[in-house]
Amino acid sequence: MSKPTPNNNEIVFPENNIIVSKTDTKGKITYCNELFIQMSGYEEEKLLGQPHNILRHPDMPRIVFKLLWENIQSGNEMNAYIKNLTKDGSYYWVFANVTPSFDKDNKIIGYFSVRRKADASKLEFIKNLYKQLLATEKNQGMEASMKQLQNILNEKELSYEEFILSF
Ligand SMILES: Cc1cc2nc3c(=O)[nH]c(=O)nc-3n(C[C@H](O)[C@H](O)[C@H](O)COP(=O)(O)O)c2cc1C
Repeated sequence: MSKPTPNNNEIVFPENNIIVSKTDTKGKITYCNELFIQMSGYEEEKLLGQPHNILRHPDMPRIVFKLLWENIQSGNEMNAYIKNLTKDGSYYWVFANVTPSFDKDNKIIGYFSVRRKADASKLEFIKNLYKQLLATEKNQGMEASMKQLQNILNEKELSYEEFILSF
């Protein structure tokens, strides 16, 4: 499927609602709720079975997804601010919580994600941070953006998890 061309149209996340999706262990969508379908602009049949990066926005630094996958594949949860791309090229921001799902033998059988509206005042900081990380990635690669993020966390004396929930 060809990627939509991003435009500057923001779709505002409705208050008091959540976007839910489930994936298999590879990140292919196995379930999405009504709001997910509505916000993405795709039909449910188009979404199911597609890799979750169908929503990937080019403004997102890769390091965020690297951290996401590292965390969830090792059995931990991950919280992140994510800018998503819709079918018509619009975007919407979310605050996402992604968790692994386990079978009775504690083996990861898929992932589960709940997203809510991202607080506008917090997003100002995140937008600026992502812009810096993206520029570093473009010029120097992902190891450099990882170091940059680590330096910011070290300065604040916070882990990523503490940082993301701290402001
Ligand atoms: C449960 C779950 C939910 C995800 N939600 C999103 C999302 O909303 N937007 C997004 O761009 N990537 C999401 N991802 C990450 C994608 O799988 C993918 O790593 C990301 O879009 C970057 O694409 P890439 O890995 O092909 O570079 C999610 C992954 C999982 C497991």
